Amino acid sequence: MIRVLFVCLGNICRSPMAEFMLKDMVKKRNIENNFYIESRATSSEEIGNPIYYKAQKKLEEYNIKPIGKTAKKLKREDYNNFDYIIGMEYSNIYNILKIIENDPENKVYRLLDFSNKPRDISDPWYTDDFDKAYSDIKEGLEAFLRYLCY
Ligand code: 4NP
Repeated sequence: MIRVLFVCLGNICRSPMAEFMLKDMVKKRNIENNFYIESRATSSEEIGNPIYYKAQKKLEEYNIKPIGKTAKKLKREDYNNFDYIIGMEYSNIYNILKIIENDPENKVYRLLDFSNKPRDISDPWYTDDFDKAYSDIKEGLEAFLRYLCY
């Protein structure tokens, strides 16, 4: 079982998109039993809130339904419960490391560092570009699955 935790600032746009997009991809490849996937925020701003409606709308265009998701904050204890802790941009990595304090098992990654064009995924909360967020996340998830040899 590969335990994957996606992390962004608010846990209402990018990291829940990545969570439900990867759940959909592994289901379509019939490998869902090999994965446990969740997502978290580094900030407390949106805790308890559902996915932002524009992120939800983007997922629903691809028949992905983020049912039951509400924002949760990353806790230090999460470090032991996941194998990969994957941020969307460099500032997420900085904030993740502040919460978990250190990363002795090298579990913390930036999503697009798995791709051959390493870069940040910009925050659609500020850019309003949910198409770009979707395609960047998809590129990162495909690269992540290739990295895992799936
Ligand atoms: P996310 O986007 O990190 O992709 O979930 C954000 C959503 C809300 C806020 C910041 C980023 N906020 O400050 O409320």
